[in-house]
Amino acid sequence: MQNHLTIVDHPLVQHKLTLMREKETSTAVFRQLLREISMLLAYEITRGLPMTTRRIETPLVAMDAPVLEGKKLALVSILRAGNGLLDGVLELIPSARVGFVGLYRDEKTLMPVQYYFKVPEGLDNRMVIAVDPMLATGNSSAAAIDLLKKAGATDIRFLCLLAAPEGVARMKAAHPDVPIVTAALDERLNEAGYILPGLGDAGDRMFGTK
Ligand code: URA
Repeated sequence: MQNHLTIVDHPLVQHKLTLMREKETSTAVFRQLLREISMLLAYEITRGLPMTTRRIETPLVAMDAPVLEGKKLALVSILRAGNGLLDGVLELIPSARVGFVGLYRDEKTLMPVQYYFKVPEGLDNRMVIAVDPMLATGNSSAAAIDLLKKAGATDIRFLCLLAAPEGVARMKAAHPDVPIVTAALDERLNEAGYILPGLGDAGDRMFGTK
């Protein structure tokens, strides 16, 4: 993957995202749409996975058929909203290993505070996909990637649903080696650090906490 930022402009992704943005969309529908979009975004972020071939027999002949090479992927959910993306990605890549980084955003400073970190072994040999639906200030995303690098990861990608220009710039400055895949690049952040036009608080909307 060459580009630092890839926007998945596929019509199905864009249509589902519009439904998610609408404030009247229910928690159940929001969650279902997030699951569907996650699969489509996962399809894009895993493009370019290393391949090899395996000798197989079809009912008619033998052939060297393409299969994925190498170690299982590691998916790392940035809690708590990352879990909403994680479910859909896992449906597409069920054998992936899974880790969790717990960071919450201090509402006053908007800076990340770590409260949990548990990731699969051998991160240095795996492609690592960090998932968090909203790339807003980029502070928690950049901090999560710092932690993954400290744990040995060298091949990291970042999957989100919506990105703000401020977050993309922050990630590019801190981690230019980490490609980002998103469904949309929105206009800006508001003074509270929410993405505009955005979709509100992704965690609250997917878990129904507000
Ligand atoms: N986190 C969210 O859930 N929504 C935003 O708009 C920004 C950060």
